[in-house]
Amino acid sequence: MKNLLIIGGGGHGRVVADCAQACGRWRQIRFLDDRYPELQRAGRWQVVGTSGEWPRFSDGQVDVLVGIGDNASRLGLQRKLEDAGCHLPALVHPRAWVSPDASIGAGSVVFAGGMVNIDAHLGDAVIVNTGATVDHDCILAEGVHLSPGVHLGGNVTIGPRSWLGLGAVVRNGVVIGSDTMIGAGAAVVSDLADGITVVGVPARPVPADD
Ligand SMILES: CC(C)(COP(=O)(O)OP(=O)(O)OC[C@H]1O[C@@H](n2cnc3c(N)ncnc32)[C@H](O)[C@@H]1OP(=O)(O)O)[C@@H](O)C(=O)NCCC(=O)NCCS
Repeated sequence: MKNLLIIGGGGHGRVVADCAQACGRWRQIRFLDDRYPELQRAGRWQVVGTSGEWPRFSDGQVDVLVGIGDNASRLGLQRKLEDAGCHLPALVHPRAWVSPDASIGAGSVVFAGGMVNIDAHLGDAVIVNTGATVDHDCILAEGVHLSPGVHLGGNVTIGPRSWLGLGAVVRNGVVIGSDTMIGAGAAVVSDLADGITVVGVPARPVPADD
């Protein structure tokens, strides 16, 4: 069994650790966090260094995951780790469901109650948070985050680094651009451009500040 190093000991990082422990695939789980040495523990796990110290702790016997919620930061650090030869596993909680005909990229996580249905394809560093569901034939690009309780109908496509807030729902067949923010509780019923923020039912762009 390998060890697992998680970079980022905040709320998301600790859920990643909890999920990893439930999977039972690693002998030891430890954290790196920039609050070290003041921060010695993240949840029930030990913090052993700052995030920049990962080269000192990673070798062939260590898998690495980035436990950072911010999509661009998580994806950027993951790419740096991969370039350095680190292995980033995909993580699926034992109480999640992923169809054998779906695919999940490196460093992606599916937390408890998450579901990924047949022929859905998730890129690298994607988060399917607690109780979120991805229906058939969806395509999620790298760095997408589905917050807890998000539901995607079939054939939804989401561009890189977009973030769907708590409980948002997306109608089947909708295409969402990159770096788009969908507010908590929104209902997305038509395609969305890159880089915008939408809220409400049906989801509408938040007007820019004057
Ligand atoms: C959409 C969002 C990003 C906007 O954040 P913000 O820019 O800080 O916006 P504010 O809180 O200043 O609100 C601006 C306006 O939008 C409204 N608004 C904010 N979020 C909204 C939402 N989800 N649905 C409907 N209206 C919303 C506010 O009521 C406010 O309206 P007003 O100007 O008439 O008073 C944020 O509210 C949100 O929904 N974040 C998702 C959080 C989440 O899901 N976290 C999951 C963690 S795992």
